[in-house]
Amino acid sequence: MSDFVLETQNLGISFGGLHAVSNVNLQIKKGEIYGLIGPNGAGKTTIFNLLTGVYQPTEGTFYLDGKELKRLSQERINHEGIARTFQNIRLFNNMTVRRNVMVGLHNRPEFRCSMADSILRLPRHFRVESEMKEKAVEILKIFDLEEERNALACNLPYGKQRKLEIARALATEPKLLLLDEPAAGMNPHETEDLRKTVELLRERFDITILLIEHDLKFVSGICDRLTVLNFGTVIAQGKTKEALSDPEVIKAYIGK
Ligand SMILES: Nc1ncnc2c1ncn2[C@@H]1O[C@H](COP(=O)(O)OP(=O)(O)O)[C@@H](O)[C@H]1O
Ligand SMILES: [Mg+2]
Repeated sequence: MSDFVLETQNLGISFGGLHAVSNVNLQIKKGEIYGLIGPNGAGKTTIFNLLTGVYQPTEGTFYLDGKELKRLSQERINHEGIARTFQNIRLFNNMTVRRNVMVGLHNRPEFRCSMADSILRLPRHFRVESEMKEKAVEILKIFDLEEERNALACNLPYGKQRKLEIARALATEPKLLLLDEPAAGMNPHETEDLRKTVELLRERFDITILLIEHDLKFVSGICDRLTVLNFGTVIAQGKTKEALSDPEVIKAYIGK
């Protein structure tokens, strides 16, 4: 068993000979809220794409709880325990709030139905369906979204759509949850609400969180440690306060 939930070793990728990300070494402990920050184009989302099987690393590798996940499909990686949200919200807009969470639940073994169960509408299909509905509402409660369970996802205000996306990712029961700019576009009230929700997730669930965020106030209020990227390489990493006061980091943020 590894000491780290996530460990990356010299992780990198190049597109047409250009290094978008190189030599990234992360060691994230169980229960941590860990930040990944850096200017636009630094390679943050690309790292999430590597960790979720959207892209295959051209260098290095990564481990979840000591198990190497390099080259596995997106679906397999999710089964192994990594779930994510996207920088631009991706929901099933014309499905209800509850149904969106149920999509995440489908990954769990206890909710699997055979094709025959579903097509022939065998008793198992109905039992699983009603258990999933219950479970989905339980998850929605954590996010204070149970009242909106029957609303269409597209009709939710922006801040709630962001929360619903996290709820759907959480429904897959990940060990590691990746959040790509969860506070982007939120008003201060929504941001504060999000901060509380993320902290609650850590307290209530056996979960580790890696988050990308531009709002440095949000980051310093919530992250135990962080990594700062610039032009695809790590320029600082460590305890949040120390890493943020590193001269290289200040230069990268404020410009030359
Ligand atoms: N599929 C791709 N093909 C070519 N270049 C890419 C691809 N995906 C990302 N990149 C490049 O990788 C760099 C990092 O992008 P990204 O990870 O989205 O940055 P960030 O999330 O930090 O703003 C950018 O220069 C981007 O153009
Ligand atoms: Mg990005």
